Amino acid sequence: MHKLYDRDGHQNLFFHDLCEGAAVQANQHVIVDHGEAMLLDPGGHKVYTKLFAELASLVPPSGLKHLFFSHQDPDIVAAANGWLMVTEATAHVSKLWTRFIPHFGIDAFAVDRMIGIEDGGGKLAVGSGQVKFLPAHFLHSSGNIQVYDCVSKILYSGDLGAAVGPEYAFVEDFEAHARHMRGFHQRYMPTSRAIRAWARMVRGLDIETIAPQHGAMFVGKEMVGRFIDWVESLECGIELLEELYQVPD
Ligand SMILES: [Fe+2]
Ligand SMILES: [Fe+2]
Repeated sequence: MHKLYDRDGHQNLFFHDLCEGAAVQANQHVIVDHGEAMLLDPGGHKVYTKLFAELASLVPPSGLKHLFFSHQDPDIVAAANGWLMVTEATAHVSKLWTRFIPHFGIDAFAVDRMIGIEDGGGKLAVGSGQVKFLPAHFLHSSGNIQVYDCVSKILYSGDLGAAVGPEYAFVEDFEAHARHMRGFHQRYMPTSRAIRAWARMVRGLDIETIAPQHGAMFVGKEMVGRFIDWVESLECGIELLEELYQVPD
């Protein structure tokens, strides 16, 4: 478990190494404010058992009030039913996915606790703090939301900022780290047009840390700025389409 913030009854924690085997590395983030917790992008069944045990040392299951799914991918929602069964938490996800995620098997009594986030985002109280749901559509999913924690000023960026490969939890050498992000963003992010719209939006926020769902954290305003500048200038997705469309030999 790593800490991103711990002050005045408010904590931002994450788990970096609960995935194993063929499953892609993923971070599970938790916001705790005065005994109330929000779990972000909790992941699949293999992670579920370990994460549940880890969380129990932080808050009782009754303290887990909110689940957040940035989008509909299996590394995020596969264990949604488990979390809804053992807690009374409300799950928040883009309204585009509320009728698709039940295909993972959500029990009837729990399905009403899955709340659709409007395309424009929204706000939510967590303990005495507040988070904002930010629109981040097409980064990479068509219904994609990020979370900004108003207390710690951490932006949870989901798959944006993801790196696959390196095992460290915090970025120290940005240039070296960018090499691990490039291929992922070029193939999973559909268009830089969405990235540029995102960059315009988040430059209006006071951000101390960018915390992605895969790979390492960008801590401090300088590192945050470097990431935004880097990702904004990256060509990706449909801009590289011609390279993809070749008849195999
Ligand atoms: Fe994804
Ligand atoms: Fe992901």
